[in-house]
Amino acid sequence: MALKITVIGTGYLGATHAAAMAELGFEVLGLDVVPEKIEMLQRGEVPIYEPGLEELLRRHVAGIEGASGRLRFTMDWAEVAEFGDVHFVCVNTPQKHGEYACDMSYVDAAFTSLAPHLKGPALVVGKSTVPVGSADRLARTLAELAPAGEDAELAWNPEFLREGLAVKDTLRPDRIVAGVRSERAEKLLREVYATPLAEGTPFVVTDFPTAELVKTSANSFLATKISFINAMAEVCEASDGDVAKLAEAIGYDDRIGKKFLRAGIGFGGGCLPKDIRAFMARAGELGADQALTFLREIDSINMRQRGQMVELTRQSLGGGSFLGKRVAVLGATFKPDSDDVRDSPALNVAGQIHLQGGQVTVYDPKGMGNARRLFPTLGYADSAVEAVRGADVVLHLTEWREFRELDPAVLGGAVSQRVLLDGRNALDPAVWRAAGWTYRAMGRPAA
Ligand code: UDX
Repeated sequence: MALKITVIGTGYLGATHAAAMAELGFEVLGLDVVPEKIEMLQRGEVPIYEPGLEELLRRHVAGIEGASGRLRFTMDWAEVAEFGDVHFVCVNTPQKHGEYACDMSYVDAAFTSLAPHLKGPALVVGKSTVPVGSADRLARTLAELAPAGEDAELAWNPEFLREGLAVKDTLRPDRIVAGVRSERAEKLLREVYATPLAEGTPFVVTDFPTAELVKTSANSFLATKISFINAMAEVCEASDGDVAKLAEAIGYDDRIGKKFLRAGIGFGGGCLPKDIRAFMARAGELGADQALTFLREIDSINMRQRGQMVELTRQSLGGGSFLGKRVAVLGATFKPDSDDVRDSPALNVAGQIHLQGGQVTVYDPKGMGNARRLFPTLGYADSAVEAVRGADVVLHLTEWREFRELDPAVLGGAVSQRVLLDGRNALDPAVWRAAGWTYRAMGRPAA
């Protein structure tokens, strides 16, 4: 008989995982503690912009016309425990307010709410990004609280999905990491992922701490690549080198690789910044803080990029104050194909210039609602052309396709001065310069 799956937490990770599991043919029950979320999901709607996710949900949510009906949602822990053979815990682990450490309260609440209802055999699978050592502790929570005793087991199976590519990453993962303590747990996880779509995907079996560490070390490595190239951008800036050419040239060495070497205003979002900080905090607790002191530097290089973009903007306006200057900002989200503005470098730069007296107007294809909520005092426009109208300088801060397709001549007709600062090294300098623009990017020669 086919396994029945539950997904606890229906945020960006959980909603995607639940829909993907239904797509793979499983009966799925999703749980959330927020009634509004459940109501939306039951209508086949998602509160976030994630390409392909709504379509995937609509193909499976019970009650939607033409849907498979394999996906349902509830707020009832007992129903979830009764229904599922495998329970995926997908709740978030944000950064604690004012601290580096991550907030485990949602994960802890999920385990203490579910465990007392687990009366029969069940596999609980942690997917959230957690400090190493959490799985061991949560296994003890399960053993203490689940009436099923040893029949209720834990596995750790981190996710690596990227915002904007969540559906693809879930249905076609690069690898599956399974932290397990028994053959039974491994067999069940293999059964979940033994679908035609996941065929050929490497399946790496580990212990608990290694599974937890795979996630945090992968994100630390990615963050390191970005800060490395941004450090090279600073050196290029000081020596008239060109960081884009440098990245291309070093990237041909396949030990280095081309990806994650785009210099600019750096990384943001709900994962990389908080994950490297939580990793440092955890290493400190384990007495291994020296091993990760380099991450402090990675973080500070990253944060410095935002200030440097502000300074580049100031220079391009002749130095001095921003008072009376009109600054257009293209992009608000932390990356394209997402409406997520959490720790967004683009909004941070826009906010700094605004606080220093600049008249800032922001446009973003999908992030306007979230940006307005977070930074209500910034100016906003409904299109790129409207945002740049009368601008003394245009900042390109999130590399949406829409911005790559802009016609420099049309934009040139709207601005007060044709000055473009590319904070993402994603536009073609030759095209913009040919249309009479002064094009500048961090780590690249002025002309
Ligand atoms: C990241 C990891 O990639 C993913 O595997 C993990 O599961 C969650 O965290 P995500 O937060 O969606 O995913 O964003 P990612 O695509 O990694 O980009 C992070 C940030 O780095 C963005 O702000 C992006 O603009 C920036 N970035 C990326 C660069 O500045 N330069 C690059 O070369 C690549």
